[in-house]
Amino acid sequence: MKILITGAHGQLGKDITQLSQKNNTDTVPCGSQDLDITRYETVIEYIFTQKPDIIINCAAYNAVDQAETDWERAFLVNGLGPKNLSLAANKVDAVLIHYSTDYIFNGQTSRPYTLVDTPDPISRYGESKLLGEQMVMRHALKYFLIRVSWVFGAGNSNFVKKVLEWSSQRDQITVVDDQISSPTYTKDLAQASLDLIKTEQYGIYHMTNTGHCSRYEWAYYILNQIGWTGELTPGKSSNFKTKATRPAFSALDNFGTDHTIGYELPSWQDATGRFLHEIGRI
Ligand SMILES: NC(=O)c1ccc[n+]([C@@H]2O[C@H](COP(=O)([O-])OP(=O)(O)OC[C@H]3O[C@@H](n4cnc5c(N)ncnc54)[C@H](OP(=O)(O)O)[C@@H]3O)[C@@H](O)[C@H]2O)c1
Repeated sequence: MKILITGAHGQLGKDITQLSQKNNTDTVPCGSQDLDITRYETVIEYIFTQKPDIIINCAAYNAVDQAETDWERAFLVNGLGPKNLSLAANKVDAVLIHYSTDYIFNGQTSRPYTLVDTPDPISRYGESKLLGEQMVMRHALKYFLIRVSWVFGAGNSNFVKKVLEWSSQRDQITVVDDQISSPTYTKDLAQASLDLIKTEQYGIYHMTNTGHCSRYEWAYYILNQIGWTGELTPGKSSNFKTKATRPAFSALDNFGTDHTIGYELPSWQDATGRFLHEIGRI
């Protein structure tokens, strides 16, 4: 079995590559320099030459605020990229794994979103990711479409790393308590993704660490774990002006995923603790 990974230098891409190699699977990790998913001819040629059995698309444009103005680029990477990969996957009879986001929902709910809920993005980033979903569902013959939220891992910048950075610079931090979702650790996501692929039960899934919290609660947990002695106060999104509006409540319900892979992902608290350990902070 041969697995080709796009966006292999991103947070998730790194962990999926590492796990796939650890399993002694023939793995082809591609950074954006090796394979730009927005270029149709290049994608078709590359996939045709490599002939993978599985393509895991970890490439994405994730700059949520920047996407408000740079939306064409976001649409290109998050929308047309998955379309190119879908068409290429079909040509070599490969399975495509693609990741989407809780930001395709408007956040006007008080219970975790299930697979029957209707997407209604409130940002350009959310729209671009929804376009990617539509492209995969319309064009890929064999696919797993996996929605995730608040991703964190050892790769790039993420919320946990931001909180750690603030804690080293200040003794008073304010974090919003009116954005709620489910943190998702790339190590758990990588393992569960490979377990899901093995089932061959193609389709759409929600996959996050178990439970949900506000940004404030998550920050509280992180700071408590590292023994920070400063003052953390809850704030409101309206006091932190950003170009893009974030959904208020966008936790995902993993119904279906647990049944298919046979287990629940660990809690977000457990995952956050292991991540802090991984990066040497506890
Ligand atoms: N991060 C989150 O909080 C979050 C939340 C919900 C869903 N997700 C989804 O989860 C998946 C994994 O996210 P992540 O956080 O691991 O992403 P990430 O760390 O931002 O990595 C994305 C990777 O995509 C690459 N890339 C960008 N444009 C590309 C292109 N045209 N062709 C090929 N590669 C390209 C980037 O490479 P360069 O750096 O070289 O450009 C980068 O390595 C994505 O689908 C993302 O949308 C993430």
